[in-house]
Amino acid sequence: MKPLTPIFLSSLYLLTPTTAQSTPLSRAETALDVLQSWYNTSSGIWNTCGWWNGANCMTVLADLALIDDSSETVQETAREVFNNTYYVGPKSNPLPFGRLEPNATASPSVTASSSGVASSMAATPTTTDGAYEVGWKWIDGSYDDDGWWALAWIAAYDLTEEQKYLDVAIGIYEHLNSTKKASCGGTGIYSDITNVYVNAVTNELFLSIAAHLANRASNKQKYRQDAENLWNWFSTVGFINDNGTINDGLTDDCKNNGQTEWTYNQGIILGALTELYTINENKTYLTSASHIAKAAIKTFTNSTTNVIQESCDPDACDENSTQFKGIFIRNLAALNDVAPDNDYEKVIKASAESIWRKDRDAENDELGEAWTGPLGLVDASTHSSALDTLVAAAGL
Ligand SMILES: *[C@@H]1O[C@H](CO)[C@@H](O)[C@H](O)[C@H]1NC(C)=O
Ligand SMILES: *[C@@H]1O[C@H](CO)[C@@H](O)[C@H](O)[C@H]1NC(C)=O
Ligand SMILES: *[C@@H]1O[C@H](CO)[C@@H](O)[C@H](O)[C@H]1NC(C)=O
Ligand SMILES: *[C@@H]1O[C@H](CO)[C@@H](O)[C@H](O)[C@H]1NC(C)=O
Ligand SMILES: *[C@@H]1O[C@H](CO)[C@@H](O)[C@H](O)[C@H]1NC(C)=O
Ligand SMILES: *[C@@H]1O[C@H](CO)[C@@H](O)[C@H](O)[C@H]1NC(C)=O
Ligand SMILES: *[C@@H]1O[C@H](CO)[C@@H](O)[C@H](O)[C@H]1NC(C)=O
Ligand SMILES: *[C@@H]1O[C@H](CO)[C@@H](O)[C@H](O)[C@H]1NC(C)=O
Repeated sequence: MKPLTPIFLSSLYLLTPTTAQSTPLSRAETALDVLQSWYNTSSGIWNTCGWWNGANCMTVLADLALIDDSSETVQETAREVFNNTYYVGPKSNPLPFGRLEPNATASPSVTASSSGVASSMAATPTTTDGAYEVGWKWIDGSYDDDGWWALAWIAAYDLTEEQKYLDVAIGIYEHLNSTKKASCGGTGIYSDITNVYVNAVTNELFLSIAAHLANRASNKQKYRQDAENLWNWFSTVGFINDNGTINDGLTDDCKNNGQTEWTYNQGIILGALTELYTINENKTYLTSASHIAKAAIKTFTNSTTNVIQESCDPDACDENSTQFKGIFIRNLAALNDVAPDNDYEKVIKASAESIWRKDRDAENDELGEAWTGPLGLVDASTHSSALDTLVAAAGL
């Protein structure tokens, strides 16, 4: 498709009232309606995308509700989804309780009672407190998946202030913190139960959960200590390359492995550093965040359009990488909230505008994978990822 000329665009505005009236917030509300057409009340996650993607669908819903307090629909949707997913979601866990956890002694299961409330029959989680058992049913064999759910429940807690949601995140954190420490310094954790690969995403999530809990849970000091240790390790062990961006992980001998620089790996860390800053307003963390954010913008945008592009765009992303760009923008927006920067706003606005104009199915408002267009693959993952950006634009 040829880019629309400005003149054609302005006549389009006049011809189509819905476009003319749309604001960043109304676009996000429209896109939320579409996202909910995939929500499955029996599975507690969203049809057409996977388990960990579900955590990100829930997070974007919470993020919209946090800025859209005058929409009763959005508020009710968020609360209903959190409550329903809290009870039924574990049924969709592909590997409940990380069944292959090296030392698990029994096969636990999640069952739904006649009231539809799932209850857990855990194997033998070694309980350090009640929260651990609550978190256990959200974990599977991939520690990054677990991390996404922890952040999703923290977002739900931020909106509702329901302690039971925060307890899930605390329980998941306790689980992650009890797994075998990774080689390369013994501070971080492995990517999954096989204890082989030390990757960026899992450790960024682990760090981000600790930093979020340092601002929310009791025992704040313990989480703060963990988060600071993790950042000291993460920032020096080799994940960050000479260009200031973050590669996928480390080699067996603890060097940067040069594997793909995914957008989400530049993003999660920004949210983590923003939370670390929030603890006592130590600006060092903002300086580090801004270096990564600017390096990422340089790497992932075309400086003419300022729209974020994944290396697999427009049509080679798999079921996981379809989720990544929105995660980057969500966290860039969190950083921008505490340290506003024109470069960040430009990228958020340009990406949101491009999604709406070039990456949207005009018939049904579904949003696709490639934010620069044309509309290709569309599912709940591409859509929720794009929605992260519409929400970020609405929050500016
Ligand atoms: C909900 O998800 C379950 C499990 O994936 C599936 O079997 C069922 O068909 C879905 N229901 C709807 C209404 O899509
Ligand atoms: C929460 O979900 C459970 C299980 O589906 C249901 O029994 C309960 O009524 C719901 N509570 C609220 C406040 O919606
Ligand atoms: C798992 O069990 C093995 C053998 O009993 C033991 O050496 C190891 O420390 C245990 N690991 C954990 C994480 O408990
Ligand atoms: C995480 O585990 C370490 C020991 O490996 C412990 O020192 C730390 O306090 C734990 N973090 C929390 C928040 O409990
Ligand atoms: C840094 O960026 C340059 C230019 O984009 C690229 O050629 C080089 O491979 C990058 N270096 C690393 C370590 O990623
Ligand atoms: C701020 O954070 C940096 C990096 O972790 C640390 O070296 C420094 O001591 C901290 N300063 C204060 C006042 O906490
Ligand atoms: C940037 O995007 C514009 C518009 O799509 C395109 O014409 C230009 O070639 C792109 N530049 C680079 C360096 O990719
Ligand atoms: C996507 O991630 C999940 C777990 O996080 C993994 O099991 C699956 O193999 C991944 N899919 C691809 C295509 O890499």
